[in-house]
Amino acid sequence: MNAEIRGLQLEGVAKQFGKVRVVEQIDLSVAQGEFVVLLGESGCGKSTVLRMIAGLEDVSAGRVFINGRDVTSLPPMARDIAMVFQNYALYPHMDVAHNMSFALELSGTPKSEITRRVAEAAEVLSITHLLQRKPRELSGGQRQRVAIGRAIVREPLIFLFDEPLSNLDAKLRGHMRTELTLLHQRLGKTIIYVTHDQVEAMTLASRIVIFHKGLIQQVGTPSEVFNQPANLFVAAFIGMPSMNLLEGSVLVDKGSTVLKGAGFLIPLPAGVQWPQQLVVGLRPQALQIAASGPGVLQLQVDVVEYLGTESVLVGKLAGGTDARITAVVEGNRTDLLHQTVPLTFDPPALHAFDKATGLRVRT
Ligand SMILES: Nc1ncnc2c1ncn2[C@@H]1O[C@H](COP(=O)(O)OP(=O)(O)O)[C@@H](O)[C@H]1O
Ligand SMILES: [Mg+2]
Repeated sequence: MNAEIRGLQLEGVAKQFGKVRVVEQIDLSVAQGEFVVLLGESGCGKSTVLRMIAGLEDVSAGRVFINGRDVTSLPPMARDIAMVFQNYALYPHMDVAHNMSFALELSGTPKSEITRRVAEAAEVLSITHLLQRKPRELSGGQRQRVAIGRAIVREPLIFLFDEPLSNLDAKLRGHMRTELTLLHQRLGKTIIYVTHDQVEAMTLASRIVIFHKGLIQQVGTPSEVFNQPANLFVAAFIGMPSMNLLEGSVLVDKGSTVLKGAGFLIPLPAGVQWPQQLVVGLRPQALQIAASGPGVLQLQVDVVEYLGTESVLVGKLAGGTDARITAVVEGNRTDLLHQTVPLTFDPPALHAFDKATGLRVRT
């Protein structure tokens, strides 16, 4: 591999524990300075990938390159990476400054250099005033910042984060998300960040890698994975509430192409090679109450969740299956409870997937 290539490359990296394959061959290239988030549900192999990048776990196949150097057989200390875990055990008997400097002391970094790095990291993280405190005298968010500080002082080529915010309460998590974005802007370092939280992924990532059962489902910017999900898995996984998925058969009705399913007839754009069996996806936010006419979908509303600026309508299609359909509409619409509401959508909001393969149909 060319030594000029910076960042991180994974080539055919796979992992099996005994006979169980937990990560299938993955190829991924992360440019210098990118913030890449590995997103997937618990147990899909995210931490295993991160640990293979860190050298904490051997690869079963493939190679890992950092800044163009093949590090596949190097131990963690020789890889120029720093990792922050969900359970960031700080040393309880050391103050914050010492927690941050400890690894540098062990590696024989000159004292003046250590002092400079700790001061700089503390400044970046706004914890200068906490340097003399012990971990027990800190809040959860402050402790997490110290754990990040410990990684920053090592001045690594790549930061690896494994669900670093999962132990914090929701409000603090939101705050720390913003802090991490600012930190990335200031340091400009490559970050690989693992989470199961799609909001973290959408807000932090320059690119998201969506994992499912040890396989990459899609790699893209937050906008790409949200607006052009590559397959049904990504479509259902990204977005809240989840995308509505409606399955049916493609027919030509009076010269126009439609999707016919239980309780609906949805017009499809012309000039597309439609598969016979199609699944269409409509985000709850894309559905609107029809101003006039019958609309495209008739929603029998069973539940209205009023959230302040919007209402979530949950129900079933009249004459349809038991599948739940969700629509998010403006304002307080508790008046729609137990009503049948005509819904429509703008044609570009329609996602389409081949039922047989699960893959997105390009429209
Ligand atoms: N040391 C191990 N031995 C056997 N199985 C493991 C080991 N580590 C992880 N696994 C299994 O590999 C799968 C992926 O785990 P992990 O990478 O921790 O997932 P995630 O971080 O996405 O939650 C899980 O099924 C887990 O049980
Ligand atoms: Mg994990």
